[in-house]
Amino acid sequence: MKRQKMKRFENQVIVITGGSKGIGWAAAEQFLAEGGKVSIWDIHAPEDEELARYSNRLLWVKCDVSKEKDIQHAVETTEKQWGNIQILVCSAGIQRYSTVTETSEEEWDFVMGINLKGSFLAAKHCIPSMQRHGNGVVILISSVQAFYSQDKVAPYVASKSGQIGLMRSIAVDYAPNIRCVAVCPGTINTPMLRDAINLSPDPAIVLKECEDMHLVQRIGEAEEVSKLICFLASSEASFITGQYFRIDGGLGVMIAGSKK
Ligand SMILES: NC(=O)c1ccc[n+]([C@@H]2O[C@H](COP(=O)([O-])OP(=O)(O)OC[C@H]3O[C@@H](n4cnc5c(N)ncnc54)[C@H](O)[C@@H]3O)[C@@H](O)[C@H]2O)c1
Repeated sequence: MKRQKMKRFENQVIVITGGSKGIGWAAAEQFLAEGGKVSIWDIHAPEDEELARYSNRLLWVKCDVSKEKDIQHAVETTEKQWGNIQILVCSAGIQRYSTVTETSEEEWDFVMGINLKGSFLAAKHCIPSMQRHGNGVVILISSVQAFYSQDKVAPYVASKSGQIGLMRSIAVDYAPNIRCVAVCPGTINTPMLRDAINLSPDPAIVLKECEDMHLVQRIGEAEEVSKLICFLASSEASFITGQYFRIDGGLGVMIAGSKK
């Protein structure tokens, strides 16, 4: 007899901030493939054909995660469509390049507003919905830059480090029924990365440098991160909370020497 593959997210309502592109979209596709109903909260829409393909299980709500009114509207729209939210993935993020002395107050607020405050606001307004449901999972997409830095990324590393503290705080405050974890990717092949390396006069060199930083000698794919996100969101990870998970091809493990 043929055994039917179990769909881990059948009838579950999943919110993905920044889900129209990159890591968020890869996660959306994985949740959809496994039966979930996905509400994407993003300033940009996913591709039209994707919206059409999954029309009854994919919703896009135009939302700037740094604005509480937008988040409140997104929760109302999602609940009206499908009821209570069970899973929140905070993937909305931006990368900007500056040192502390170069960063204007506006730029600092802009980066922190999306990367850190956006995670806070989404959690603030999704957790009550999870509580009405009875349980839930919050996953913050942080970065290896919560632990390491490069030059000229002051607001970005501050925001990514802040997400780790926020994750622990949510895990403590809403246990036992709501789990919270953070995922910390190394360099991943997404529009964010491609935009960043295209700022350089020689993007091919920058890409090679990125590949060489990882022990596996390549950058990661968004689908590799989405598999980890879906595992952590699933009941298979029911004993995991308050932790961060690096998915970084061994970046930073080797402190000296050369693989070449
Ligand atoms: N790509 C990498 O190498 C990498 C590495 C480590 C961590 N990350 C983190 O992963 C997350 C996703 O990154 P990505 O590479 O997929 O980026 P991406 O640029 O490919 O996608 C980010 C998405 O966020 C959306 N977004 C931007 N500002 C928004 C706002 N104000 N409100 C709502 N949505 C907004 C964008 O429209 C886009 O759809 C980010 O938090 C990023 O910091 C990425």
